[in-house]
Amino acid sequence: MAHIDVTDIQYFLSDGTQLLGGVTFKVTAGSKTALIGPNGTGKTTLFKIIAGDLKADEGSINRTGTLGIMRQFVGQVRDESTVKDLLLSTAAPALAQAAAKVAEYEAKMLTSEDEKVHMRYAEAIIEWGDAGGYELETTWDKVCMAALGVGFDKAGDRLARTLSGGEQKRLVLEALFEGNDELLLLDEPDNYLDVPGKRWLEDTMSRSNKTVLFISHDRELLNNAATRIVTLEPGHGGATAWVHGGAFGSYVEARKERNERFEELRKRWDEEHAKLKELVNMYKTKAAFRSDMANRYQAATTRLEKFLEAGPPQAIPLEQNVNMRLKGGRTAKRAVVAEKLELTNLMKPFDAEIWFGDRVGVLGSNGSGKSHFLRLLASGGTDPEREHLP
Ligand SMILES: Nc1ncnc2c1ncn2[C@@H]1O[C@H](COP(=O)(O)OP(=O)(O)OP(=O)(O)O)[C@@H](O)[C@H]1O
Ligand SMILES: [Mg+2]
Repeated sequence: MAHIDVTDIQYFLSDGTQLLGGVTFKVTAGSKTALIGPNGTGKTTLFKIIAGDLKADEGSINRTGTLGIMRQFVGQVRDESTVKDLLLSTAAPALAQAAAKVAEYEAKMLTSEDEKVHMRYAEAIIEWGDAGGYELETTWDKVCMAALGVGFDKAGDRLARTLSGGEQKRLVLEALFEGNDELLLLDEPDNYLDVPGKRWLEDTMSRSNKTVLFISHDRELLNNAATRIVTLEPGHGGATAWVHGGAFGSYVEARKERNERFEELRKRWDEEHAKLKELVNMYKTKAAFRSDMANRYQAATTRLEKFLEAGPPQAIPLEQNVNMRLKGGRTAKRAVVAEKLELTNLMKPFDAEIWFGDRVGVLGSNGSGKSHFLRLLASGGTDPEREHLP
């Protein structure tokens, strides 16, 4: 069964800052392990190290099982890549190489009558088949039907950026859970998914017997799918990991207890520090007029030095406490008026009034046109006021 051992990973950024300061944890076989932590702690960087894209400065990664990866960029594809490219990004390197060769000679065949090119193309097709490409296309067909409602033959050449963020995520997730890889690394799989999509992910992950390490900021997903939680905690010498062997339900309590323990240890350290300083001061005063006290003064000083050298216990990890302070603007004024507004093929005509100070949530399934609607508002709407005119 697939597993990962992360042992004492240290990683320095190019400016010399230590990002990871000895990260150690296990992803046990079949577990659904969540990696959580504040923005910028190094979660994605750690994923890249596990995937072999980046080299750690110290430490080791040991893993068994074939690896399937969903990277954090999925959901924000803006380049020229197609649905097929997105699906290929989840495939084993051998298959991705075989596909690239087929595409290369397919393009060459369009402009060349050369027999050699035709031969190479035939070879590339055989290699694609030998590598398991046809089985993969059957899987992709299922995946496209499930995520986009059409088969791979119709969806394969579509530009990925024409899919909504949620559709891109769903496509890649369907491919990974449907595919053969035993070990999945998922970087924020829930981002962009609508509510039914999130439910699907929770169910699929829970039912899957694959070993999964996933990064998430979503409490619902953590609650419903994680069996172990690894917290990456920032510190002066880089982030370290704290492992909670249970689900998220017992996490908050366990973390509180742990932080209280740190508080207690710190309190004792401070008391000991004060005592040692007092001792040094006392012997210093005595040694000033009694020469036989010089040794004691020296011993106390050394003790204090050693104590300070060992340093205080681990600091209590920072709690994130996010509060939103929204202030209303001019009241009793309509900010947005929509009359029979319809986004072609996306939504039926609707009327709405939004007033200054309103807080409006725009909800809807993936691909229903929420971002289109907001972009329309950002550009001043269909009937922009003068200050919004281009
Ligand atoms: N190539 C790089 N050069 C300089 N800094 C980098 C580089 N890659 C990452 N960093 C920095 O390292 C830190 C960790 O980045 P990382 O993407 O691993 O964070 P993360 O924990 O995944 O955050 P998030 O929750 O926002 O996705 C950030 O401060 C980032 O700016
Ligand atoms: Mg990240």
